[in-house]
Amino acid sequence: MLGIIGAMDEEVARLKEQMEDAQVQTWAGMEFYRGRINGKEAVVVRSGIGKVNAAVCAQILADRYEVSAIVNTGIAGSLDGKIDIGDIVLSTDALQHDMDATNFGYTLGQIPRMEVLSFQADRRLLELARACCKEVNPDIHVYEGRVVSGDQFVSSQEKKEWLIRNFKGSCTEMEGAAIAQAAYLNEIPFLIIRAISDKADNSATMDYPAFEAQAIDHSVNLMLEMIRRYEA
Ligand code: ADE
Repeated sequence: MLGIIGAMDEEVARLKEQMEDAQVQTWAGMEFYRGRINGKEAVVVRSGIGKVNAAVCAQILADRYEVSAIVNTGIAGSLDGKIDIGDIVLSTDALQHDMDATNFGYTLGQIPRMEVLSFQADRRLLELARACCKEVNPDIHVYEGRVVSGDQFVSSQEKKEWLIRNFKGSCTEMEGAAIAQAAYLNEIPFLIIRAISDKADNSATMDYPAFEAQAIDHSVNLMLEMIRRYEA
């Protein structure tokens, strides 16, 4: 069974609407909707914003629902000039840009005493998402790259350039790498799907509200088709 996390109501509303026989349980203040979407068992949940909410949510999916995979769907700021508003980024891997133990010799972004710098997304989920996206969103571009997450809405050219220079990320948001870390610790395959709502620069706070709905539409279209085709 797939576990699907969106940070905000808007990101999961249509998925919940499509769900049949939904059973709702509340854990840690989060409502977990379990039922059938496009003929498949799934759990859909709004985690709330930020890394801690996201990690707690992913752990509940692991412990209480024993999901076979976790997909994080939502929106993000682009970190690459060729990745435009409305386009989709599928995660190859994810890391936390606000983790800094460089004073102890760790690479920026690396969590001390963990073996990996970034958490690798599942190849099979990535390939499934790529195939589905071509079908349901034929007019937009799909990219694969690193998702860099932190407890910060990125809206300055300086910070954007810092993220690109240090991490070579494709997009930035506030939950993906925390979900990735929780999935890694629990040995659950994961994928992050993010549609671009802004360019994470000085125009981000203006663009974000204008393009949020369109971006969410693209990621939800993809998610619905992925659920249809997903085999555990
Ligand atoms: N989600 C969407 N756009 C974002 C940005 N610029 N920074 C962080 N999270 C985001």
